[in-house]
Amino acid sequence: MTETTAPAAPAEQEAAPRLSVIGTGYLGATHAACMAELGFEVLGVDVDPAKIERLARGEVPFHEPGLPELLRTHVASGRLRFTTDVAEAARWADVHFIGVGTPQKVGETAADLSYVDAAVASLAAAIDRDALIVGKSTVPVGTARRLAELVRTVRAEAGLPGEVELAWNPEFLREGFAVRDTLTPDRLVIGMHGPRAEGILRRVYARQLAADTPWISTDLETAELVKVAANAFLATKISFINAFSEITENVGGDIGTLADAIGHDARIGRRFLNAGVGFGGGCLPKDIRALQARVSELGLDRTMRFLAEVDDINLRRRDRVVDLAVQVLSAARDGRIRRAEASGPAPTPASVQVLNGTRIAVLGVTFKPDSDDVRDSPALDVANRLYTAGADVRVYDPEGNANAAARFPRLDYVDSLEAAVDGAELTLLLTEWRQFREMDPDAVGARVASRLLIDGRNVLDVAAWREHGWDVIGLGHRFDPERLLRAA
Ligand code: UGA
Repeated sequence: MTETTAPAAPAEQEAAPRLSVIGTGYLGATHAACMAELGFEVLGVDVDPAKIERLARGEVPFHEPGLPELLRTHVASGRLRFTTDVAEAARWADVHFIGVGTPQKVGETAADLSYVDAAVASLAAAIDRDALIVGKSTVPVGTARRLAELVRTVRAEAGLPGEVELAWNPEFLREGFAVRDTLTPDRLVIGMHGPRAEGILRRVYARQLAADTPWISTDLETAELVKVAANAFLATKISFINAFSEITENVGGDIGTLADAIGHDARIGRRFLNAGVGFGGGCLPKDIRALQARVSELGLDRTMRFLAEVDDINLRRRDRVVDLAVQVLSAARDGRIRRAEASGPAPTPASVQVLNGTRIAVLGVTFKPDSDDVRDSPALDVANRLYTAGADVRVYDPEGNANAAARFPRLDYVDSLEAAVDGAELTLLLTEWRQFREMDPDAVGARVASRLLIDGRNVLDVAAWREHGWDVIGLGHRFDPERLLRAA
Protein backbone atom coordinates (compact mmCIF):
# COMPACT_ATOMS: atom_id res chain seq x y z
CA MET A 1 0.00 0.00 0.00
CA THR A 2 1.16 3.54 -0.70
CA GLU A 3 2.62 5.52 2.19
CA THR A 4 1.43 9.09 2.73
CA THR A 5 4.13 11.79 2.51
CA ALA A 6 2.07 14.61 4.01
CA PRO A 7 3.98 16.23 6.94
CA ALA A 8 1.21 15.70 9.47
CA ALA A 9 -1.45 13.27 8.39
CA PRO A 10 -4.79 14.08 10.04
CA ALA A 11 -4.85 10.63 11.61
CA GLU A 12 -1.71 11.48 13.55
CA GLN A 13 -3.38 14.48 15.14
CA GLU A 14 -6.39 12.51 16.31
CA ALA A 15 -6.63 11.06 19.79
CA ALA A 16 -5.18 7.58 20.07
CA PRO A 17 -7.80 4.88 19.43
CA ARG A 18 -9.21 3.13 22.50
CA LEU A 19 -8.80 -0.60 22.36
CA SER A 20 -10.74 -3.54 23.70
CA VAL A 21 -9.54 -7.14 23.72
CA ILE A 22 -12.24 -9.81 23.86
CA GLY A 23 -10.96 -13.03 25.44
CA THR A 24 -8.22 -12.90 28.06
CA GLY A 25 -6.40 -16.21 27.69
CA TYR A 26 -2.73 -16.47 26.64
CA LEU A 27 -3.34 -14.46 23.51
CA GLY A 28 -5.82 -11.86 24.74
CA ALA A 29 -4.28 -11.10 28.13
CA THR A 30 -0.85 -10.70 26.54
CA HIS A 31 -2.21 -8.53 23.75
CA ALA A 32 -4.12 -6.32 26.19
CA ALA A 33 -1.09 -5.78 28.47
CA CYS A 34 1.23 -5.14 25.52
CA MET A 35 -1.14 -2.64 23.93
CA ALA A 36 -1.23 -0.79 27.27
CA GLU A 37 2.57 -0.91 27.29
CA LEU A 38 2.49 0.76 23.86
CA GLY A 39 0.55 3.64 25.44
CA PHE A 40 -3.06 2.79 24.57
CA GLU A 41 -6.03 2.73 26.91
CA VAL A 42 -7.22 -0.86 26.91
CA LEU A 43 -10.29 -2.72 28.19
CA GLY A 44 -9.98 -6.50 28.49
CA VAL A 45 -13.22 -8.50 28.29
CA ASP A 46 -13.95 -12.07 29.24
CA VAL A 47 -17.05 -14.10 30.06
CA ASP A 48 -15.26 -15.71 33.03
CA PRO A 49 -15.75 -13.45 36.08
CA ALA A 50 -13.09 -15.29 38.13
CA LYS A 51 -10.48 -14.66 35.46
CA ILE A 52 -11.48 -11.01 35.14
CA GLU A 53 -11.29 -10.53 38.90
CA ARG A 54 -7.76 -11.91 39.00
CA LEU A 55 -6.61 -9.85 36.04
CA ALA A 56 -8.15 -6.71 37.53
CA ARG A 57 -6.07 -7.37 40.68
CA GLY A 58 -2.99 -7.56 38.46
CA GLU A 59 -2.66 -11.36 38.62
CA VAL A 60 -1.94 -13.40 35.50
CA PRO A 61 -3.88 -16.70 35.71
CA PHE A 62 -1.18 -18.63 33.80
CA HIS A 63 2.60 -18.74 33.62
CA GLU A 64 4.11 -16.34 31.09
CA PRO A 65 7.49 -14.73 31.80
CA GLY A 66 7.39 -10.92 31.87
CA LEU A 67 3.61 -10.65 31.67
CA PRO A 68 2.85 -10.22 35.41
CA GLU A 69 5.10 -7.14 35.56
CA LEU A 70 3.41 -5.51 32.55
CA LEU A 71 -0.05 -6.32 33.82
CA ARG A 72 0.61 -4.94 37.30
CA THR A 73 2.13 -1.73 35.95
CA HIS A 74 -0.72 -0.94 33.63
CA VAL A 75 -3.53 -2.02 35.93
CA ALA A 76 -2.00 0.27 38.56
CA SER A 77 -1.76 3.18 36.13
CA GLY A 78 -5.40 2.68 35.12
CA ARG A 79 -4.49 2.34 31.46
CA LEU A 80 -5.57 -1.29 31.49
CA ARG A 81 -8.98 -2.27 32.85
CA PHE A 82 -11.06 -5.42 32.75
CA THR A 83 -14.76 -6.18 32.53
CA THR A 84 -17.19 -9.02 31.82
CA ASP A 85 -19.53 -6.61 30.05
CA VAL A 86 -19.05 -6.71 26.31
CA ALA A 87 -21.59 -3.88 25.86
CA GLU A 88 -19.34 -1.61 27.91
CA ALA A 89 -16.47 -2.37 25.53
CA ALA A 90 -18.75 -1.87 22.52
CA ARG A 91 -19.68 1.62 23.69
CA TRP A 92 -16.18 2.63 24.77
CA ALA A 93 -13.57 1.31 22.32
CA ASP A 94 -12.70 2.23 18.75
CA VAL A 95 -10.91 -1.03 17.97
CA HIS A 96 -11.97 -4.45 19.27
CA PHE A 97 -9.44 -7.27 19.09
CA ILE A 98 -10.90 -10.78 19.21
CA GLY A 99 -8.57 -13.16 21.07
CA VAL A 100 -10.92 -15.96 22.14
CA GLY A 101 -9.99 -19.62 21.73
CA THR A 102 -10.79 -21.85 18.76
CA PRO A 103 -10.18 -25.27 20.35
CA GLN A 104 -10.60 -28.60 18.64
CA LYS A 105 -14.25 -29.71 18.72
CA VAL A 106 -14.80 -32.62 21.09
CA GLY A 107 -14.69 -35.85 19.12
CA GLU A 108 -13.86 -34.06 15.85
CA THR A 109 -10.82 -32.59 14.15
CA ALA A 110 -12.45 -29.29 13.14
CA ALA A 111 -12.08 -26.06 15.13
CA ASP A 112 -14.86 -24.98 17.45
CA LEU A 113 -15.79 -21.48 16.29
CA SER A 114 -18.58 -20.90 18.78
CA TYR A 115 -16.52 -18.50 20.95
CA VAL A 116 -15.40 -16.39 17.99
CA ASP A 117 -18.91 -16.30 16.57
CA ALA A 118 -20.39 -15.32 19.93
CA ALA A 119 -17.79 -12.59 20.52
CA VAL A 120 -18.29 -10.99 17.10
CA ALA A 121 -22.08 -11.32 17.21
CA SER A 122 -22.35 -9.73 20.65
CA LEU A 123 -20.09 -6.86 19.64
CA ALA A 124 -21.92 -6.30 16.37
CA ALA A 125 -25.21 -6.07 18.21
CA ALA A 126 -23.93 -3.57 20.77
CA ILE A 127 -21.60 -1.17 18.92
CA ASP A 128 -23.36 2.13 18.27
CA ARG A 129 -20.54 4.11 16.67
CA ASP A 130 -17.77 3.77 14.07
CA ALA A 131 -15.49 0.91 15.04
CA LEU A 132 -13.13 -1.74 13.79
CA ILE A 133 -13.31 -5.41 14.82
CA VAL A 134 -9.95 -7.17 14.42
CA GLY A 135 -9.83 -10.95 14.66
CA LYS A 136 -6.65 -12.41 16.10
CA SER A 137 -7.86 -15.95 16.84
CA THR A 138 -6.72 -18.77 14.54
CA VAL A 139 -9.68 -19.62 12.29
CA PRO A 140 -10.38 -21.79 9.26
CA VAL A 141 -10.20 -19.95 5.95
CA GLY A 142 -13.51 -18.33 5.08
CA THR A 143 -14.45 -17.50 8.68
CA ALA A 144 -13.57 -13.80 8.52
CA ARG A 145 -15.64 -13.19 5.40
CA ARG A 146 -18.58 -15.01 6.97
CA LEU A 147 -18.19 -12.91 10.13
CA ALA A 148 -17.99 -9.67 8.13
CA GLU A 149 -21.33 -10.60 6.60
CA LEU A 150 -22.72 -11.48 10.04
CA VAL A 151 -21.69 -8.05 11.35
CA ARG A 152 -23.37 -6.37 8.39
CA THR A 153 -26.65 -8.26 8.77
CA VAL A 154 -26.89 -7.98 12.55
CA ARG A 155 -26.34 -4.24 12.37
CA ALA A 156 -28.65 -3.65 9.43
CA GLU A 157 -31.44 -5.59 11.15
CA ALA A 158 -31.00 -3.69 14.40
CA GLY A 159 -30.63 -0.35 12.57
CA LEU A 160 -27.55 0.55 14.63
CA PRO A 161 -25.64 3.76 13.91
CA GLY A 162 -21.94 3.78 12.88
CA GLU A 163 -19.75 1.94 10.38
CA VAL A 164 -18.21 -1.30 11.67
CA GLU A 165 -15.42 -2.88 9.63
CA LEU A 166 -13.82 -6.25 10.19
CA ALA A 167 -10.14 -7.12 9.66
CA TRP A 168 -8.05 -10.20 10.46
CA ASN A 169 -4.66 -9.84 12.12
CA PRO A 170 -3.32 -13.29 13.00
CA GLU A 171 -1.05 -13.68 16.00
CA PHE A 172 2.26 -15.53 15.85
CA LEU A 173 3.31 -15.31 19.50
CA ARG A 174 4.94 -18.28 21.17
CA GLU A 175 4.11 -19.20 24.73
CA GLY A 176 7.09 -18.41 26.91
CA PHE A 177 8.02 -15.47 24.64
CA ALA A 178 4.56 -13.96 24.35
CA VAL A 179 5.42 -10.44 25.51
CA ARG A 180 8.49 -10.16 23.31
CA ASP A 181 6.67 -11.61 20.30
CA THR A 182 3.80 -9.14 20.72
CA LEU A 183 5.91 -6.04 21.27
CA THR A 184 8.49 -6.92 18.62
CA PRO A 185 6.81 -9.32 16.18
CA ASP A 186 8.75 -10.59 13.17
CA ARG A 187 5.90 -9.55 10.86
CA LEU A 188 2.44 -8.02 10.98
CA VAL A 189 -0.19 -9.51 8.72
CA ILE A 190 -3.46 -7.66 8.22
CA GLY A 191 -6.31 -9.06 6.18
CA MET A 192 -8.73 -6.31 5.25
CA HIS A 193 -12.21 -5.94 3.94
CA GLY A 194 -12.84 -2.20 4.03
CA PRO A 195 -11.12 1.16 3.59
CA ARG A 196 -10.49 2.21 7.21
CA ALA A 197 -8.77 -0.76 8.79
CA GLU A 198 -5.30 -0.10 7.39
CA GLY A 199 -5.05 3.48 8.67
CA ILE A 200 -6.30 2.56 12.14
CA LEU A 201 -4.06 -0.47 12.51
CA ARG A 202 -1.03 1.46 11.31
CA ARG A 203 -1.66 3.80 14.25
CA VAL A 204 -2.07 0.90 16.66
CA TYR A 205 1.17 -0.68 15.45
CA ALA A 206 3.07 2.58 14.89
CA ARG A 207 5.95 1.55 17.15
CA GLN A 208 6.46 -1.74 15.35
CA LEU A 209 6.27 0.02 11.99
CA ALA A 210 8.87 2.56 13.13
CA ALA A 211 11.13 -0.41 13.92
CA ASP A 212 10.71 -1.61 10.31
CA THR A 213 8.62 -4.66 11.15
CA PRO A 214 7.44 -6.10 7.83
CA TRP A 215 3.82 -5.10 7.26
CA ILE A 216 1.78 -7.35 5.02
CA SER A 217 -1.63 -5.98 4.14
CA THR A 218 -3.73 -8.43 2.25
CA ASP A 219 -7.20 -9.92 1.92
CA LEU A 220 -9.04 -11.79 4.65
CA GLU A 221 -8.43 -15.27 3.21
CA THR A 222 -4.67 -14.82 2.86
CA ALA A 223 -4.42 -13.53 6.42
CA GLU A 224 -6.30 -16.54 7.76
CA LEU A 225 -4.20 -18.93 5.70
CA VAL A 226 -0.85 -17.35 6.63
CA LYS A 227 -1.44 -18.34 10.23
CA VAL A 228 -2.33 -21.99 9.64
CA ALA A 229 0.35 -22.31 6.95
CA ALA A 230 3.00 -21.13 9.43
CA ASN A 231 1.91 -23.59 12.11
CA ALA A 232 1.54 -26.45 9.61
CA PHE A 233 5.05 -25.77 8.33
CA LEU A 234 6.52 -25.74 11.83
CA ALA A 235 4.74 -29.00 12.72
CA THR A 236 6.00 -30.55 9.49
CA LYS A 237 9.57 -29.53 10.25
CA ILE A 238 9.41 -31.20 13.65
CA SER A 239 7.86 -34.39 12.31
CA PHE A 240 10.34 -34.41 9.44
CA ILE A 241 13.29 -34.69 11.80
CA ASN A 242 11.39 -37.08 14.05
CA ALA A 243 10.74 -39.34 11.05
CA PHE A 244 14.51 -39.47 10.54
CA SER A 245 14.76 -40.38 14.23
CA GLU A 246 12.90 -43.56 13.42
CA ILE A 247 15.69 -44.41 10.97
CA THR A 248 18.60 -43.50 13.23
CA GLU A 249 17.01 -45.41 16.09
CA ASN A 250 17.10 -48.39 13.83
CA VAL A 251 20.43 -48.19 12.01
CA GLY A 252 22.45 -45.92 14.29
CA GLY A 253 23.64 -42.41 13.49
CA ASP A 254 23.32 -39.14 15.31
CA ILE A 255 20.04 -37.30 14.81
CA GLY A 256 21.41 -34.05 16.31
CA THR A 257 24.36 -33.99 13.92
CA LEU A 258 22.02 -34.74 11.03
CA ALA A 259 19.83 -31.76 12.02
CA ASP A 260 22.89 -29.50 12.42
CA ALA A 261 24.24 -30.53 9.05
CA ILE A 262 21.05 -29.96 7.07
CA GLY A 263 20.31 -26.85 9.13
CA HIS A 264 23.45 -25.15 7.82
CA ASP A 265 21.69 -24.93 4.49
CA ALA A 266 20.04 -21.52 4.84
CA ARG A 267 17.11 -22.77 2.75
CA ILE A 268 16.38 -25.35 5.43
CA GLY A 269 17.53 -23.65 8.66
CA ARG A 270 18.30 -25.38 11.96
CA ARG A 271 15.38 -24.08 14.03
CA PHE A 272 12.47 -26.44 14.77
CA LEU A 273 14.60 -29.44 13.85
CA ASN A 274 15.05 -30.61 17.42
CA ALA A 275 14.23 -34.30 17.52
CA GLY A 276 12.42 -35.54 20.59
CA VAL A 277 9.08 -36.48 22.01
CA GLY A 278 7.36 -34.14 19.57
CA PHE A 279 5.07 -31.18 19.47
CA GLY A 280 2.06 -30.43 21.64
CA GLY A 281 0.28 -27.42 23.04
CA GLY A 282 -2.88 -25.59 22.21
CA CYS A 283 -1.86 -24.63 18.68
CA LEU A 284 0.22 -26.89 16.43
CA PRO A 285 -1.75 -30.16 16.95
CA LYS A 286 -5.21 -28.63 16.70
CA ASP A 287 -4.25 -26.31 13.84
CA ILE A 288 -3.01 -29.11 11.57
CA ARG A 289 -6.16 -31.09 12.32
CA ALA A 290 -8.47 -28.12 11.74
CA LEU A 291 -6.72 -27.38 8.45
CA GLN A 292 -7.32 -30.92 7.23
CA ALA A 293 -10.96 -30.69 8.31
CA ARG A 294 -11.37 -27.38 6.49
CA VAL A 295 -9.85 -28.52 3.20
CA SER A 296 -12.05 -31.61 3.33
CA GLU A 297 -15.09 -29.36 3.65
CA LEU A 298 -13.81 -27.56 0.58
CA GLY A 299 -13.64 -30.87 -1.30
CA LEU A 300 -9.84 -30.83 -1.33
CA ASP A 301 -9.37 -34.02 0.68
CA ARG A 302 -5.97 -34.90 -0.74
CA THR A 303 -4.43 -31.45 -0.42
CA MET A 304 -3.38 -31.62 3.22
CA ARG A 305 -3.27 -35.38 3.56
CA PHE A 306 0.42 -35.24 4.40
CA LEU A 307 -0.54 -33.49 7.63
CA ALA A 308 -2.18 -36.71 8.79
CA GLU A 309 1.30 -38.27 8.50
CA VAL A 310 2.84 -35.32 10.33
CA ASP A 311 0.36 -35.91 13.17
CA ASP A 312 0.96 -39.64 13.11
CA ILE A 313 4.75 -39.36 13.24
CA ASN A 314 4.34 -36.94 16.13
CA LEU A 315 2.09 -39.28 18.12
CA ARG A 316 4.39 -42.27 17.41
CA ARG A 317 7.14 -40.48 19.36
CA ARG A 318 5.10 -41.00 22.51
CA ASP A 319 4.80 -44.74 21.79
CA ARG A 320 8.53 -44.80 21.24
CA VAL A 321 9.30 -43.35 24.68
CA VAL A 322 7.11 -45.96 26.34
CA ASP A 323 8.68 -48.79 24.25
CA LEU A 324 12.13 -47.48 25.05
CA ALA A 325 11.32 -47.37 28.77
CA VAL A 326 10.30 -51.02 28.54
CA GLN A 327 13.46 -51.96 26.63
CA VAL A 328 15.78 -50.05 28.94
CA LEU A 329 14.24 -51.46 32.10
CA SER A 330 14.19 -54.98 30.66
CA ALA A 331 17.85 -54.79 29.65
CA ALA A 332 18.79 -53.42 33.06
CA ARG A 333 16.90 -56.22 34.79
CA ASP A 334 18.29 -58.84 32.44
CA GLY A 335 21.73 -57.54 33.34
CA ARG A 336 21.04 -57.86 37.03
CA ILE A 337 19.64 -61.39 36.58
CA ARG A 338 22.63 -62.39 34.45
CA ARG A 339 24.99 -60.99 37.02
CA ALA A 340 23.21 -62.96 39.74
CA GLU A 341 23.23 -66.15 37.74
CA ALA A 342 26.71 -65.50 36.32
CA SER A 343 25.82 -67.59 33.29
CA GLY A 344 22.83 -69.29 31.77
CA PRO A 345 20.30 -68.40 29.09
CA ALA A 346 19.14 -64.83 28.50
CA PRO A 347 16.00 -64.01 30.49
CA THR A 348 12.57 -63.47 28.99
CA PRO A 349 12.19 -60.81 26.30
CA ALA A 350 11.23 -57.25 27.16
CA SER A 351 7.59 -56.96 28.00
CA VAL A 352 5.32 -54.27 29.25
CA GLN A 353 5.14 -56.22 32.53
CA VAL A 354 8.47 -54.70 33.39
CA LEU A 355 6.73 -51.38 34.03
CA ASN A 356 4.43 -52.81 36.67
CA GLY A 357 5.33 -51.32 40.05
CA THR A 358 8.55 -49.80 38.74
CA ARG A 359 9.44 -46.38 40.13
CA ILE A 360 9.85 -43.94 37.23
CA ALA A 361 10.66 -40.24 37.54
CA VAL A 362 9.05 -37.99 34.94
CA LEU A 363 10.73 -34.60 34.64
CA GLY A 364 8.45 -32.13 32.93
CA VAL A 365 4.79 -32.36 31.96
CA THR A 366 4.18 -29.08 30.14
CA PHE A 367 4.23 -29.12 26.34
CA LYS A 368 7.34 -26.96 26.43
CA PRO A 369 9.44 -25.11 29.00
CA ASP A 370 8.55 -21.66 30.41
CA SER A 371 4.87 -22.44 30.21
CA ASP A 372 2.35 -24.09 32.53
CA ASP A 373 0.32 -25.29 29.57
CA VAL A 374 -0.30 -29.04 29.41
CA ARG A 375 -2.74 -29.06 26.50
CA ASP A 376 -1.87 -31.97 24.19
CA SER A 377 1.42 -32.30 26.04
CA PRO A 378 3.54 -35.24 24.86
CA ALA A 379 5.20 -35.40 28.30
CA LEU A 380 1.92 -35.68 30.19
CA ASP A 381 0.63 -38.26 27.73
CA VAL A 382 3.73 -40.41 28.26
CA ALA A 383 3.49 -40.06 32.06
CA ASN A 384 -0.12 -41.17 31.94
CA ARG A 385 0.62 -44.14 29.68
CA LEU A 386 3.34 -45.34 32.02
CA TYR A 387 0.98 -44.98 34.96
CA THR A 388 -1.73 -46.90 33.09
CA ALA A 389 0.80 -49.69 32.46
CA GLY A 390 1.27 -49.97 36.21
CA ALA A 391 4.43 -47.92 36.74
CA ASP A 392 4.88 -46.00 39.99
CA VAL A 393 5.30 -42.62 38.27
CA ARG A 394 6.53 -39.56 40.15
CA VAL A 395 6.01 -36.37 38.21
CA TYR A 396 7.69 -33.03 38.71
CA ASP A 397 7.29 -29.90 36.61
CA PRO A 398 8.41 -26.44 37.77
CA GLU A 399 5.12 -24.82 36.71
CA GLY A 400 2.84 -27.47 35.24
CA ASN A 401 1.91 -29.77 38.15
CA ALA A 402 -1.40 -28.08 38.96
CA ASN A 403 -2.70 -28.03 35.38
CA ALA A 404 -1.54 -31.60 34.85
CA ALA A 405 -3.24 -32.74 38.05
CA ALA A 406 -6.48 -31.17 36.86
CA ARG A 407 -6.32 -33.46 33.80
CA PHE A 408 -4.78 -36.59 35.27
CA PRO A 409 -5.37 -36.43 39.03
CA ARG A 410 -4.17 -39.95 39.74
CA LEU A 411 -0.52 -39.36 38.87
CA ASP A 412 1.79 -38.76 41.82
CA TYR A 413 2.89 -35.12 41.52
CA VAL A 414 5.80 -34.02 43.71
CA ASP A 415 7.18 -30.60 44.55
CA SER A 416 10.81 -30.98 43.62
CA LEU A 417 13.22 -32.61 41.23
CA GLU A 418 14.76 -34.44 44.20
CA ALA A 419 11.44 -35.93 45.30
CA ALA A 420 10.75 -37.09 41.74
CA VAL A 421 14.03 -38.94 41.29
CA ASP A 422 14.26 -40.47 44.78
CA GLY A 423 14.53 -44.24 44.34
CA ALA A 424 13.76 -44.08 40.60
CA GLU A 425 14.78 -47.04 38.51
CA LEU A 426 14.41 -44.92 35.40
CA THR A 427 14.31 -41.16 34.86
CA LEU A 428 12.59 -39.56 31.88
CA LEU A 429 13.39 -36.00 30.87
CA LEU A 430 10.37 -34.98 28.78
CA THR A 431 10.23 -31.16 28.92
CA GLU A 432 13.50 -29.28 28.65
CA TRP A 433 13.17 -26.84 31.55
CA ARG A 434 16.45 -25.14 32.35
CA GLN A 435 16.45 -26.78 35.80
CA PHE A 436 16.61 -30.18 34.09
CA ARG A 437 19.11 -29.17 31.42
CA GLU A 438 21.44 -27.95 34.16
CA MET A 439 20.93 -30.68 36.77
CA ASP A 440 24.00 -32.22 38.33
CA PRO A 441 24.48 -35.88 37.34
CA ASP A 442 26.06 -36.76 40.68
CA ALA A 443 23.48 -35.03 42.85
CA VAL A 444 20.66 -36.72 40.94
CA GLY A 445 22.64 -39.97 40.78
CA ALA A 446 22.92 -40.08 44.57
CA ARG A 447 19.13 -40.28 44.83
CA VAL A 448 18.08 -42.67 42.07
CA ALA A 449 18.02 -46.45 42.34
CA SER A 450 19.53 -46.79 38.84
CA ARG A 451 21.46 -44.26 36.80
CA LEU A 452 19.26 -44.76 33.75
CA LEU A 453 17.78 -41.82 31.89
CA ILE A 454 15.83 -41.34 28.67
CA ASP A 455 16.40 -37.87 27.31
CA GLY A 456 13.18 -37.16 25.43
CA ARG A 457 14.44 -33.75 24.28
CA ASN A 458 18.11 -34.45 23.57
CA VAL A 459 19.35 -31.68 25.80
CA LEU A 460 21.83 -33.44 28.09
CA ASP A 461 25.51 -33.88 27.37
CA VAL A 462 25.44 -37.67 27.08
CA ALA A 463 29.23 -38.09 27.26
CA ALA A 464 29.47 -36.01 30.44
CA TRP A 465 26.63 -37.93 32.07
CA ARG A 466 28.24 -41.24 31.10
CA GLU A 467 31.39 -40.15 32.89
CA HIS A 468 29.25 -39.97 36.02
CA GLY A 469 28.06 -43.53 35.58
CA TRP A 470 24.79 -42.76 33.84
CA ASP A 471 23.30 -44.50 30.88
CA VAL A 472 21.55 -41.77 28.93
CA ILE A 473 19.53 -42.75 25.88
CA GLY A 474 18.48 -39.85 23.69
CA LEU A 475 15.32 -40.14 21.65
CA GLY A 476 16.33 -40.63 18.03
CA HIS A 477 19.43 -42.57 19.03
CA ARG A 478 19.89 -46.28 18.76
CA PHE A 479 19.47 -48.16 22.00
CA ASP A 480 21.91 -51.00 22.42
CA PRO A 481 20.69 -53.36 25.17
CA GLU A 482 23.99 -55.25 25.02
CA ARG A 483 25.89 -52.14 26.07
CA LEU A 484 23.68 -51.88 29.14
CA LEU A 485 24.18 -55.58 29.83
CA ARG A 486 27.94 -55.22 29.52
CA ALA A 487 27.88 -52.23 31.85
CA ALA A 488 25.71 -54.04 34.41
C1 UGA B 1 3.22 -22.02 18.15
C2 UGA B 1 3.95 -21.21 17.08
O1 UGA B 1 5.36 -21.40 17.20
C3 UGA B 1 3.61 -19.73 17.23
O2 UGA B 1 4.23 -18.99 16.18
C4 UGA B 1 2.11 -19.56 17.15
O3 UGA B 1 1.72 -18.22 17.31
C5 UGA B 1 1.46 -20.39 18.23
O4 UGA B 1 1.83 -21.78 18.07
C6 UGA B 1 -0.02 -20.23 18.10
O5 UGA B 1 -0.58 -20.67 17.09
O6 UGA B 1 -0.63 -19.57 18.95
P1 UGA B 1 3.65 -22.48 20.75
O7 UGA B 1 2.45 -23.38 20.70
O8 UGA B 1 3.80 -21.52 21.88
O9 UGA B 1 3.73 -21.60 19.41
O10 UGA B 1 4.90 -23.43 20.80
P2 UGA B 1 6.19 -23.72 19.89
O11 UGA B 1 7.34 -22.97 20.42
O12 UGA B 1 5.86 -23.58 18.46
O13 UGA B 1 6.41 -25.28 20.22
C7 UGA B 1 5.41 -26.22 19.87
C8 UGA B 1 5.82 -27.61 20.24
O14 UGA B 1 6.83 -28.08 19.37
C9 UGA B 1 6.38 -27.79 21.65
O15 UGA B 1 5.79 -28.94 22.22
C10 UGA B 1 7.86 -27.98 21.43
O16 UGA B 1 8.45 -28.75 22.44
C11 UGA B 1 7.86 -28.69 20.11
N1 UGA B 1 9.13 -28.55 19.34
C12 UGA B 1 9.54 -27.33 18.94
C13 UGA B 1 9.87 -29.68 19.04
O17 UGA B 1 9.50 -30.82 19.39
N2 UGA B 1 11.03 -29.53 18.32
C14 UGA B 1 11.46 -28.33 17.89
O18 UGA B 1 12.52 -28.27 17.23
C15 UGA B 1 10.71 -27.20 18.22
